[in-house]
Amino acid sequence: MKVTHNGKSKHFRTVWFDKTKNHIRLIEQRLLPHQFKIISTKSYQETSQAIKDMVVRGAGAIGATAAYGLAQGAQIFQGNGIKTFEKHIAKVFQTLASARPTAIDPINAMQSMLSRMHGPSVANRKLQALDLAEEFAEDDVTHCQKIGHIGEQLIQNGTRVLTHCNAGWLAFVDHGSATAPMYSAHEKNKKFHVFCDETRPRSQGAALTAWELSQQGISHDIIADNASGHLMQRGEIDLVIVGSDRTLGKTGEVTNKIGTYTKAVLAKRHGIPFYVAIPLSTIDWKINSGLKIPIEERASEEVLRAWGVSDSGKRLSISIANPSSTARNPSFDITPPELITGIITPVGIIQPKKLWKNRLKLGYDNIKKNLCS
Ligand code: MRU
Repeated sequence: MKVTHNGKSKHFRTVWFDKTKNHIRLIEQRLLPHQFKIISTKSYQETSQAIKDMVVRGAGAIGATAAYGLAQGAQIFQGNGIKTFEKHIAKVFQTLASARPTAIDPINAMQSMLSRMHGPSVANRKLQALDLAEEFAEDDVTHCQKIGHIGEQLIQNGTRVLTHCNAGWLAFVDHGSATAPMYSAHEKNKKFHVFCDETRPRSQGAALTAWELSQQGISHDIIADNASGHLMQRGEIDLVIVGSDRTLGKTGEVTNKIGTYTKAVLAKRHGIPFYVAIPLSTIDWKINSGLKIPIEERASEEVLRAWGVSDSGKRLSISIANPSSTARNPSFDITPPELITGIITPVGIIQPKKLWKNRLKLGYDNIKKNLCS
């Protein structure tokens, strides 16, 4: 999307590959909204660390970063033996896949690449890796654009939309999933308002979604995570759109940032439509129960502390909790299908329990041979 930076407006993606240097270029998301900076990862290990440390975050963005990381790792292999190359690639895959466990996009992206990297020589497979990573990133952009065109019909003049966390363009390669309908509606000059849950503990809503929306000139307010029930009760929210890090094709259960489930329960209670927007790479076709999804537990410091920028521009991390207390920090929760009005996909809006029935339309055939293990 367009970013206005140092007085100049320029189009950026969240991640791209510099083939000449074998470096991956990323927006350093931990510095936003206070600083806009591009960084490079110079090895697949650095790329994996950037995913783990959330320099880059969001399901589609880490999917594309992992895809580029696999291609980056492939390029450093010395030698001609296909068997040793495959062993090397398995190690690269594992390093990247283990960085963050909940989102399925990195695994889907890399497995789809591996299933097609069958060239006759190592040199050929290295080239295939580069092309296939690029293809994943391009598909992510196209899928998000389609989600925008399809989901835009849900937003009318005057609609007040609630979103949680950041399923915006920063969470993908471009456009975003939950925000894509908003960007399409904005392009059509519709006047609507967005409430961004702040999304503690890492504040992706307050920092990232709000930054994105202000960059595009879309009317919005940041609200405390606990405020949405009150606003719903007062009739101030008409629609909820969120993203997902892993949606189960077999059951329609949706994993998303912690707090999503609470919003879905509240929306049901108040009769407010609750939509989830996903590209096809977010679907897990294998797991048959939400209880089997690995839920990332992050460091307790994220709950016990907060960080930001002082009025004098200094980056600070401060303690906000009782010093002798411990904390739990589950990062994602699971929303059951009965709380979800529809899943906005690049091929249409589908009821969560009908994903399996629509699996061929949703690309199941393309990945069924490589279902994640
Ligand atoms: O922990 P994050 O920031 O990587 O979490 C991902 C998210 O931003 C959300 O869960 C989002 O709603 C879905 S990712 C497209």
